[in-house]
Amino acid sequence: MAIEAESVAALYEQLKRRLADVYPDAELFLKAELAYEINRLKKEKNALILGHNYMEPALYHAVADLVGDSLELARRAAETDRPIIVFLGVHFMAETAKILNPDKTVLIPALGAGCSLAESLTADDVRRLKAAYPGAPVVAYVNTSAEVKAESEICCTSSNAARIVASLDAETVIFIPDQYLAANVAREVPDKTIVAWTGRCIVHEQFSVEDVTAARRQFPDVVVLAHPECPPDVVAAADFSGSTAAMIRFVREHPARRVILLTECAMGDNIAAENPDKEILRLSCRRCPYMQMITLEATLEALRELRYPVEVPEPVRSRARRALERMLAIA
Ligand code: 13P
Ligand code: SF4
Repeated sequence: MAIEAESVAALYEQLKRRLADVYPDAELFLKAELAYEINRLKKEKNALILGHNYMEPALYHAVADLVGDSLELARRAAETDRPIIVFLGVHFMAETAKILNPDKTVLIPALGAGCSLAESLTADDVRRLKAAYPGAPVVAYVNTSAEVKAESEICCTSSNAARIVASLDAETVIFIPDQYLAANVAREVPDKTIVAWTGRCIVHEQFSVEDVTAARRQFPDVVVLAHPECPPDVVAAADFSGSTAAMIRFVREHPARRVILLTECAMGDNIAAENPDKEILRLSCRRCPYMQMITLEATLEALRELRYPVEVPEPVRSRARRALERMLAIA
């Protein structure tokens, strides 16, 4: 929930209590001014702002009405009755919100906010895979375009991928597009043959087992958390692997005093601000260049100018919706 404040000064004071370690003072005041104006416009236009866990701390703490992982945000997008949704995340997430809400205006503040996984394959690639493995159902990670979802039987996210694959009545499953997530799922569902694509997340592919070993050498009590888009040997070397929301819950609920996050770097700041009693280590700041395009300035312009509206033409939208709804019905 965005911090409520009756003035810029009040918002600045609240942000200072939470984010003084993240931003220098003058920058924090500027962030408070922008966030205050966004929240004023949000009310005026009756908009809902959804924010992914990778948003920078000022957006995450002071602007988004709801924050979450891909699955939680897809669910929230399906439930809202507000006429405008501003999606603080990357394009496939905003597109998912539009697929589920065709009559609403869904805005993404930066058109270039893509995803290396979504860009790694096309609907034609999926059709070719289906021809090569006749009868094998296609599970599309939500990090895909609407056209790719439309060619797929069912979607999944990082929080339900293994459950979705296990639910299918088929021995061979085509899992697209994340090669590493596919391998991590295959370990959890050993009775299925998984046909994978070769997509990778440009952030998570950078983590290595040496990173984990070095962290444990330096901090023997550290608890290592890895997103399932990391390479399988990294996930195997970690203590816990889960979606961004699952990692946030883990830090909140687990007694560990010191954790290391093998995921996008802004989320470390967001978790650290919420858990001042814990030490949140990061190897180095690996930001997603696409998520980083969503700024306070771009969000303010999005609300002012109602830009950039996401559109998904029929019949792609209704076919993609079927794949998303099958997922939402299962997990
Ligand atoms: P989550 O669904 O875990 O939030 O992951 C989305 C994503 O793009 C991670 O890189
Ligand atoms: Fe895509 Fe990776 Fe960025 Fe997530 S972190 S949006 S998977 S490029």
